[in-house]
Amino acid sequence: MLRFITCGSVDDGKSTLIGRLLHDTKLLLDDQIATLEADSKRHGTQHGEIDFALLVDGLAAEREQGITIDVAYRFFDTDKRKFIVADCPGHEQYTRNMATGASTADLAVVLVDARKGLLTQTRRHSYIVSLLGIRHVLLAVNKMDLAGYAQPRFEEIAEGYRALAAQLGIDNVTCIPVSALQGDNILAHSTAMPWYAGATVLEHLEGVEIDRAGKDIGFRMPVQWVSRPDQNFRGFAGTISSGSITPGSQVMALPSGRRSAIARIVTADGDLAEASAGQAVTLTLADEIDASRGDTLAAASTPCEVSDQFAAHLLWLDDQRLLPGRPYWLKMGSRTVGATITEIKHKIDVNTQEELAAKHLELNEVAFCNLYLDQLVPFESYDHSRELGAFILIDRQSNATVAAGTLSFALRRAGNIHWQHVDVDKGARALIKAQKPRCLWFTGLSGSGKSTIANLVEKQLLSRARHTYLLDGDNVRHGLNKDLGFTDEDRVENIRRVAEVAKLMVDAGLIVLVSFISPFRAERQMARSLFDEGEFLEVFVDTPLEVAERRDVKGLYAKARAGQLRNFTGIDSPYEPPLSAEVVLQTADESAEQLAGHVIDLLG
Ligand code: ADX
Repeated sequence: MLRFITCGSVDDGKSTLIGRLLHDTKLLLDDQIATLEADSKRHGTQHGEIDFALLVDGLAAEREQGITIDVAYRFFDTDKRKFIVADCPGHEQYTRNMATGASTADLAVVLVDARKGLLTQTRRHSYIVSLLGIRHVLLAVNKMDLAGYAQPRFEEIAEGYRALAAQLGIDNVTCIPVSALQGDNILAHSTAMPWYAGATVLEHLEGVEIDRAGKDIGFRMPVQWVSRPDQNFRGFAGTISSGSITPGSQVMALPSGRRSAIARIVTADGDLAEASAGQAVTLTLADEIDASRGDTLAAASTPCEVSDQFAAHLLWLDDQRLLPGRPYWLKMGSRTVGATITEIKHKIDVNTQEELAAKHLELNEVAFCNLYLDQLVPFESYDHSRELGAFILIDRQSNATVAAGTLSFALRRAGNIHWQHVDVDKGARALIKAQKPRCLWFTGLSGSGKSTIANLVEKQLLSRARHTYLLDGDNVRHGLNKDLGFTDEDRVENIRRVAEVAKLMVDAGLIVLVSFISPFRAERQMARSLFDEGEFLEVFVDTPLEVAERRDVKGLYAKARAGQLRNFTGIDSPYEPPLSAEVVLQTADESAEQLAGHVIDLLG
């Protein structure tokens, strides 16, 4: 069995190549050919000839647009081998699908148009191919018919690609001159290119040897689910990702570190005496140890590492930028945990492999990052295990997949910092102050009245002998946050820091008032998540932009309108109003004193 992907730019002929392979290997049924002929006439793309791309471009939408828009998996076989091919799209914004196809492939067929040569997308896709651990590339230099079947042109492109592959660490590159449309060097040797004596595409795909064994890291099985049909049976189901086991093998559940031995290897066809990588099994253990979905069972003598801080490569797949410090969900196998990118070490220019400084990542950019998770997870470096070293990042608001990544190594410092136990806790500190600690989070536009109202609330609390502290954006930006400006990434960091400070102050037993624009929902959500249930109260100071701008107490709106102040909230930087604040204060309708009263009421 060979799993491969095809990739390249739009119009390089990926679908045509696969269509041609299926047709010439006689793998199409007569009625499929009849439909194809009819479709080809209707679309008229090949002047009455068969358009093989139509066969592969299964989706109606892509036929209309003339491009392949999703990963389409095809199964086919010849006398020599079985194949699964993921036909990956070439359109810039569909890099996501290419990454999906590449994560399980043994080989990549990279197509280039002989007339155009290596393009940015060829380089980007080859980079992803190498990042996702594919070690074999077949470079199909296509449309040789349109390049006069010229050997020098082929040699030039092949040489350029070999240099690129060497930089990327792709060891096995085979270059073949083809015309997918005419069928040159697809199955049979081309008579138009007698100068080429190497294998045809099909010969190469049938013959190429793939070493899948990888590094011997010992037994690993991520637990897909825990099977508990009745009181007496508790089995851990999953697919073994490496190594092998027999009943009696000593194993360790991770991240807990508990040990036991394999009791039975259960399958639908009865118990097995041994099972190894690739097999889907249900394992029962000799002891009642607690492991759940997303945990990993590993050989006790060579368990995998567990960590919550990593260095990793990221391929950013979303239109909205990656902002360091923003919380995302990270999914590895069946485990989902909270994650933030704490630092972008550098981004990588896919054309030159150059390492560049970066504060954020845009669509399709690749970077080497530090990653922080909110729990310990068992893992392997991606080099060692594609199953235990790959992850995706998910946006917490939209649930969209925003990045694909591969783990490189755990950051050692993580393991060396422990929580220090303290005897005096939040409860004791609050008790002596005779109050319930809270965080009152005021959000709203600049000039909305946040600080005015927060100030009144604090005075009223003080008069009731409450212990308080007011953290105001303008003031904190003179000290702790004086290194931060107003770009999106700086605002994320601004809020992260003040949220952590507020958390410490609540832990000290105080009622903390935070008055920051805090324009992004994601960061306000992150702040909320730092506190216990009921401790965090979001106060939305809802003043329309026109009103705030008319007041313009600090003259900043005027400056922003005049173009003298960039990234001003509400003008050329967004404000995302809260969707479920504990209280909304409409400043147009009531006095500041009345509004402050509503906040006091909220505290009970
Ligand atoms: S936040 O967006 O990062 O939460 P923060 O509340 O700390 O902002 O600071 C906002 C204050 O900085 C405003 O009240 C205003 O006085 C001042 N300021 C200066 N430049 C800007 C800007 N570009 N956008 C918004 N506020 C600005």
